[in-house]
Amino acid sequence: MSTHCTSTTEEQRIATGEAHGKAILFGEHAVVYGAPALALPLPELTCRATVRPVTGPGSGGSRLRMVAPGAHGTPRETAGDVPEELALLLLAFAERAGLKTPPALEIHLDSRIPPSRGLGSSAANARALVRALDALCGTGLAEQEAFDLVQVAERSAHSRASGIDALATGSERPVLLADGRARTPSVGAGFHVVVADSGSGGSTREAVGMLRDAFARDPDLRTRFIHRSTGFARAALDDLAAGRLPSLGRRLTDCHRMLAGLGLTTDGTDALARTALDAGALGAKMSGGGLGGCVVALATSAAHAESVSTALAGRTGARTWTAAVPEGAGHDGR
Ligand code: MEV
Repeated sequence: MSTHCTSTTEEQRIATGEAHGKAILFGEHAVVYGAPALALPLPELTCRATVRPVTGPGSGGSRLRMVAPGAHGTPRETAGDVPEELALLLLAFAERAGLKTPPALEIHLDSRIPPSRGLGSSAANARALVRALDALCGTGLAEQEAFDLVQVAERSAHSRASGIDALATGSERPVLLADGRARTPSVGAGFHVVVADSGSGGSTREAVGMLRDAFARDPDLRTRFIHRSTGFARAALDDLAAGRLPSLGRRLTDCHRMLAGLGLTTDGTDALARTALDAGALGAKMSGGGLGGCVVALATSAAHAESVSTALAGRTGARTWTAAVPEGAGHDGR
């Protein structure tokens, strides 16, 4: 098995890996219990990992330098030990690459994804790192292997990780996770989304734990939630395939109400959803773990997205991003 990571000729090598943010359109939380979820890539929100082996006496373990948006979106730099979820990923990678110990590395993560906003920052960090390690060590990881490694970090970061973030942060097309399989759904008419940040972070681990406790107290609530969320996702897939954007939008808004009923929205995300609708969006809902974070709104065209985005930023001061989802045929796998 390759030992490239520690060989003398490789000491000077630097390798990079990339990933991006994501927004969940339908199925967050229910997907943790096996229900379908549909997510979109947000290519503007890039995440790049750069790795450089460090060797010799005193090199010790790996070190991480991280640049990510802080409060108000300004880049903030931190440096220190590798957090537990990425240390576990390095261990799992070493095992896969046949290395006796994880390589000692200088890791630099440069992310434009605001953390704790439901935009997939933790999965994108892990995915970018996996791709950089793969490039450095010439492991030739298959997509499934890369996914499995990202999931090692994701499970450590927020316990029950369904895999939707790990998939969408590496996909160029929308991703449907259903029945344990990832697929590309068919998109009958291209559209745009506007993502707006409420400015307050939500912990996915906390949100997942909150629902787990609520479902333990009331198992019927869990059954009803999974049933309704599955209904939204399946109907949304039909709308998506048929290009019925107004109907897709209405389902988004209905889904926001359902998630609000579970206590997952905040005054901030409720206000953003209302503002997006007032500004003419076809639909709007919170996205991701909730308890803060972002709202995703549906628009028909780039100009429509621009006007919704301008209204959101102007009336609420929110940071916004837009993404285009082009028409395209669906297929199995990604
Ligand atoms: C987080 O982006 C989505 C959740 O459904 C958790 C998961 O699927 O792992 C809340």
